[in-house]
Amino acid sequence: MKIAIINGPNLNLLGTREPSIYGNQTFEEYLQGLVNDYPEISFDYFQSNIEGALIDHIQKVGFSCDAIILNAAAYTHTSVGIGDAVKAIDVPVIEVHISNTFSREDFRHKSYLTPVVKGIIVGFGLDSYRLGIEALLKD
Ligand code: DQA
Repeated sequence: MKIAIINGPNLNLLGTREPSIYGNQTFEEYLQGLVNDYPEISFDYFQSNIEGALIDHIQKVGFSCDAIILNAAAYTHTSVGIGDAVKAIDVPVIEVHISNTFSREDFRHKSYLTPVVKGIIVGFGLDSYRLGIEALLKD
């Protein structure tokens, strides 16, 4: 099984960015744990701070991998383009968020992705990604 994990803006700073909200671990460290724990899965990891680069990557992997786990970060709340990219591809997408976006500012309650993804996992810290993988494995 090939799963693409795609992270949006500022998630390259995990580990140092607002640790009270996002924790102390870098995504690279967390990903290594996933790679160790799921030897049967081939992970393709991509992060960008640029909306168009995220759309390009969704298009690139969206017809060939088995599923995408997408944390579009702030673009979740603003990007019609990323929502349209998710609609345009073949593979299922799970939207994840580290923090509980619904317990935060009002502008984080809106998602352009939620209506077009298979499901959402929100608020379990970095383990939101692991829960996404478990959901895909059980599917
Ligand atoms: C986030 C939540 C977004 O509102 C925020 O802009 C992020 C991270 C999360 O994983 O909790 O950058 O997607």
